[in-house]
Amino acid sequence: MRVAFVGKGGSGKTTMSALFARYVASQGGPVVAVDADINQHLALVLGVEEPPEPLGSRLTEIKELLRGDNPRILSAQAMVKTTPPGRGSRLLSFKDLATSEFAVTTSEGMRLMVTGPFSADDLGVACYHSKVGAVELLLNHLVDGPGEYVVVDMTAGADSFASGLFTRFDLTFLVAEPTRQGVSVYRQYRDYAADHDVPLAVIGNKVHGQSDVDFLHDQVGDDLLTWMDHSSAVRAMEQGRRFALDDLEPANTDALAMLLKHLDAQTKDWVRFGRQAEEFHLRNARSWANAKTGLDLADQIDPEFVYGGCPTT
Ligand SMILES: Nc1ncnc2c1ncn2[C@@H]1O[C@H](COP(=O)(O)OP(=O)(O)OP(=O)(O)O)[C@@H](O)[C@H]1O
Ligand SMILES: [Mg+2]
Repeated sequence: MRVAFVGKGGSGKTTMSALFARYVASQGGPVVAVDADINQHLALVLGVEEPPEPLGSRLTEIKELLRGDNPRILSAQAMVKTTPPGRGSRLLSFKDLATSEFAVTTSEGMRLMVTGPFSADDLGVACYHSKVGAVELLLNHLVDGPGEYVVVDMTAGADSFASGLFTRFDLTFLVAEPTRQGVSVYRQYRDYAADHDVPLAVIGNKVHGQSDVDFLHDQVGDDLLTWMDHSSAVRAMEQGRRFALDDLEPANTDALAMLLKHLDAQTKDWVRFGRQAEEFHLRNARSWANAKTGLDLADQIDPEFVYGGCPTT
């Protein structure tokens, strides 16, 4: 199952992604954590000193791997971030992803991948979306199942709508602080998610008491799944103290358990994944990718391909 953490800048996406990934690992679940933000921070919060080589810097290699011998994709250059798999493409199992050379192992045994920072070299050459494109391509080719967890820390705000990336998850957690600004991204995301049939749950964060909880209930209603209190353990970690999950306040650990329960309760919807892979690919083809590649990228859609191999009809 794939889960994304989204929300306003500074709301706690990275903190929550890291805590959730740690919690899942502590429960025995295999985890691949992915930093899909160009402001790379997840490795630090997970205590990884040597982050892996960024996916964004090996995009061509990733494309070569994924296109396999799909006759509809003749070169890595013809492959864009939304190019969907077809017959002949290299599909990835969760194990393939977890054991890939693009990941490193954290001290808690999970695997970490990173998109890569936005560097001066990117200016005028490629926008950062092409870096995040590596994550989209991997998720587009991933055939995962229950009990396997891909946890993705996303870019701030509504940036992820620029591509189809936000549709590649079984569940999206929107992290919101109990302030007007904090819930503003929620409204944008809610409308977009509803239009695209994307399951969404709100996690309140840095909550300071009942009035904060009341505010969140009032603003978010039934979309509020749970909340994390402002945590001294998280603050101490930010101050450089060593952190273990046991240091977390029990109420916050309960919140993490709630997140996992909710994720496990989701049903994989390969039919939606397939429909949206096609929809966003056609949309990107028309708006920029046909012009960029000089090809009609609609031809890359293989009508005979069954997404995920096991449609839920
Ligand atoms: N529950 C919490 N208790 C205490 N501090 C928290 C909590 N959640 C997040 N923080 C702190 O808030 C700050 C922002 O958190 P974080 O970096 O996770 O946000 P983000 O949404 O990933 O930000 P960005 O948009 O910059 O990527 C950090 O200093 C973090 O330690
Ligand atoms: Mg962050």
